[in-house]
Amino acid sequence: MLNPTINSIYTKHQTDLTIQPPTSGVYLQGSLAIPGDKSISHRALILGALAQGETQIQGLLLGEDVVSTANCLRSLGVEISALTTETILVQGRGLGQLQEPSDILNAGNSGTTIRLMVGILASQPNCCLTITGDRSLRSRPMSRVVRPLTQMGATIWGRQNNTLAPLAIKGKKLRPIHYHSPVASAQVKSCILLGGLMSEGQTTVTEPALSRDHSERMLTAFGADIQIDSETNSVTVTGGNNLQGRSVIVPGDISSGAFWLVAASIVPGSQLVLTNVGINPTRGGILDVLQLMGANITLEKERTVAGEPIADICVRSSSLQGCAIAGELTLRSIDEIPIIMVAAAFARGTTRIKDAAELRVKECDRLSVMATQLSYMGAKISEYPDGIEIEGGHPLSGAAVASHDDHRIAMSLAVAALRASGTTIIKDATAANISYPSFFDSLQQVCYS
Ligand code: S3P
Repeated sequence: MLNPTINSIYTKHQTDLTIQPPTSGVYLQGSLAIPGDKSISHRALILGALAQGETQIQGLLLGEDVVSTANCLRSLGVEISALTTETILVQGRGLGQLQEPSDILNAGNSGTTIRLMVGILASQPNCCLTITGDRSLRSRPMSRVVRPLTQMGATIWGRQNNTLAPLAIKGKKLRPIHYHSPVASAQVKSCILLGGLMSEGQTTVTEPALSRDHSERMLTAFGADIQIDSETNSVTVTGGNNLQGRSVIVPGDISSGAFWLVAASIVPGSQLVLTNVGINPTRGGILDVLQLMGANITLEKERTVAGEPIADICVRSSSLQGCAIAGELTLRSIDEIPIIMVAAAFARGTTRIKDAAELRVKECDRLSVMATQLSYMGAKISEYPDGIEIEGGHPLSGAAVASHDDHRIAMSLAVAALRASGTTIIKDATAANISYPSFFDSLQQVCYS
């Protein structure tokens, strides 16, 4: 049952949402099961489709991005049971056995779907197809995957000199390469490794810094021949080995948990327990950032499930201070920078975020959009080409703000609204459905006045 004391905190009007905390303020209390990790959910469906035999997935995220991956795979002839909170079954077709689709594939809003699928499709003999996405995805850079795949012999055409979707692909067996990626990106790394699964020989990706390593972990679990050289940030796949279907348990997504970690930290009198959250170190930057800021966070019941480290996380409100975020810490918290900006707005002192230019090519330009929307609420923010500086501690007031159809912006602004005085209206707040469809229901469940 929904908490009756908080029914008035938010109201939905079509895609917009109004948050109006009572003048006495709110606090957050309770325990939340965080929905499945988005990155791991995509990979479980994709590797399940490429494997021999059946894959059982527990805890799959039912967000719109993962639905896009499931729909693309179904169009390629993969049988996937109904997407429910129960165990999901994927009947693997085996490497190189996907069917040519009868229509254009649509990756929706999902960068992970299109970039990982392009690696598979370019290496799929007898497959000729087009893949596209929504307006945001059609403006995001695809040359980062088209370039290395072309070096592997792939045939891919795209708008604006093969840099933008829709992408048209004529699949064929690819040759192995050693690719030195100019950008630390798990989507690029995974795309090339998937493209190399069927090549004869070794395909290696070296990145300037270690991006999230879910693909390496899951490919190994499915029986691929993966070698990791952590000194040079290189991963090698030896092609030609079949994958075997298996059982995957998807941990809760720390990128979704991050909204609660910040919300409970900045809203006085709060205490939340987040259960079964993935704490893979390549993703755990948010925990380190919040520790630097003086947050009160403890990890409990740390364990490893299906090759991924997980824990329950307890967070209590605290007085945050500004901090400096750069280099690998930025990389390990790249999806959490929007909500970290909210934490910084309520912290004492200045927070400087550097090396975050990648945020400009996410679902929207997250640096610019967050700087603009938070400044409408009264935050003091300066924007730089690769980051921002926030002078924390200025009280925020409710305002009319917009998600720019970006799920992480919608949820970050909702958290800011909890501590702002007055009413905040978030335009297109339903963008949250991309990664966290139950976010606003959970907010209602744990929010008390
Ligand atoms: C993801 C990788 C990251 C991340 C995205 C999900 C993935 O993007 O921002 O939300 O699942 O591989 P990049 O690889 O482009 O950095």
